[in-house]
Amino acid sequence: MITIALAKGRLADESIGLLKKANIDCGDLEDPSRKLIFQNRDQSLRFILVKPSDVPTYVEYGAADIGIVGKDTLLEEGRSLYEMIDLGFGKCRMVVAGFPEKKNAWITYANTRVATKYPNIARNYFSQRGESIEIIKLNGSVELGPIIGLSDVIVDIVESGRTLKENGLEVLEEICKISARLVVNRISLKTKSSEINRLIECIQKVLEDGIND
Ligand code: PRP
Repeated sequence: MITIALAKGRLADESIGLLKKANIDCGDLEDPSRKLIFQNRDQSLRFILVKPSDVPTYVEYGAADIGIVGKDTLLEEGRSLYEMIDLGFGKCRMVVAGFPEKKNAWITYANTRVATKYPNIARNYFSQRGESIEIIKLNGSVELGPIIGLSDVIVDIVESGRTLKENGLEVLEEICKISARLVVNRISLKTKSSEINRLIECIQKVLEDGIND
């Protein structure tokens, strides 16, 4: 049996949609319920719905063989696993954002306060530039940081840009582009290679045919 960990939340519907287009039987995964574990009809696949930040953990430890999760979570968690496919949905950007007056080229972020849900990404980004910053870890509504005076800037994902705009903030710098990725446990890729490769081929065919557009 192959266990697939799916990220609950904004990636869940598109993840399930992609699996269905690839003719992978998802059982009653789509039915609205509080169930967290689902099996397909022939019991060859099992799906678990977990918090996005837990997907890499399940996959690294082999509790799940495959995971579908955002690149932002992979970068933040830094787990040991194989990143196999860029699935092309869940596209957004990881950025530094703040008030527009911070957009001057001469501004450095040394000694500024950075509010973020992504402390590791933020720390790595600024340390590569040799700038030491103070990180303030938040768990949501990060845009409040500069508005309320908790931080100077934020590091966060931007999708439509609406949250920034409606709160008077702007993108100051882009850190990297983000999208959903399919990841595989290192040992499973060897011990269950034929099942995993068959699933990957089905998904890749959907992506190549552009059915996922
Ligand atoms: C994310 C992110 C931004 C917003 C960006 O938050 O942290 O706040 O979405 O999306 P936009 O550019 O389309 O406006 P999320 O919706 O996950 O909620 P949270 O703040 O509670 O984490």
